[in-house]
Amino acid sequence: MSFPAIRMRRMRRDAFSRALMREHTLLPTDLIMVAFVIEGEGRREAVPSMPGVERLSIDELLKLAGECVRLGIPALALFPSPGSSVKTEDAAEAWNPDGLMQRATRALKAAYPELGLIGDVALDPYTTHGQDGLIDASGYVMNEPTVEALIRMSLAQAEAGMDFVAPSDMMDGRIGSIRDALEAAGHIHTRILAYSAKYASAFYGPFRDAVGSSANLGKGNKHTYQMDVANSDEALHEVELDIAEGADAVMVKPGLPYLDIVRRVKDAFGVPTFVYQVSGEYAMLKAASMNGWLDEKAVVLESLTSMKRAGADAILTYYAIDAARWLRGE
Ligand code: PBG
Repeated sequence: MSFPAIRMRRMRRDAFSRALMREHTLLPTDLIMVAFVIEGEGRREAVPSMPGVERLSIDELLKLAGECVRLGIPALALFPSPGSSVKTEDAAEAWNPDGLMQRATRALKAAYPELGLIGDVALDPYTTHGQDGLIDASGYVMNEPTVEALIRMSLAQAEAGMDFVAPSDMMDGRIGSIRDALEAAGHIHTRILAYSAKYASAFYGPFRDAVGSSANLGKGNKHTYQMDVANSDEALHEVELDIAEGADAVMVKPGLPYLDIVRRVKDAFGVPTFVYQVSGEYAMLKAASMNGWLDEKAVVLESLTSMKRAGADAILTYYAIDAARWLRGE
């Protein structure tokens, strides 16, 4: 046979054969929109480090939810940005039955029962120190007392109708403890999305501005509970434990710099595996696009498609609505 025997470019020559050999297709049903909730009415507050993202009062959040439903986005992940007046050392506002998250959940479920709701379970928006848990005199986040608080928070959300509770705190044993408490309270359908491989990442900076925890956290960090960015085997260990404790889906976070972890988790366990394109990833793509340095639609869809290719079943992203519109040709 004359050189070259194999021409890889033959299949790439025309759109029809490129379509036939395409291995992965990004769809609106792969996406989970992320939203920040604030008190008040008719309020939309810009997040300076995330241009295009706004904190929304519940009435405005309902409009966003309606757009998710129209676009075929299956679920919405909620993060509260409560005012500093409700922050305390013990984070008790987190499980107030009439707290912001619980009211938002009831309003959304009444208006759009078919839209899945994912509630963040961690104490950082509610603590005066900005840590995800309760601290001792030295500032160390205490494991068991924090898990007790997370159980209360999860039950309050489940009671309000949350479909998924999503512990993002990285305490040991919290998935099993929350699962037992949900079962005991009769919430047998409440799903748990475990932030299993959550890294101590600098890409969360803009998020901490959005929920108002960065000033309180100050120079503090989360290295005693979030994972070292240098580790990979440890992520498999975390995922294994969360599955054994009763997680319905596991998550890797951040997204793009951690797609090796997504692939390992999916290959090793084959369970529903979600990935979070975090605030810093959004900020990078948005800033470069606003400067005219990158083509926003192209790089966003490329990033999200890469996450699917790496093995993610669903992607939490601040770009969900934009991406769904682009995918639908709107
Ligand atoms: C806190 C939490 C964080 C994010 C989700 N939940 C930040 C942190 O751990 O400090 C980050 C999300 C993002 O950056 O988009 N429990």
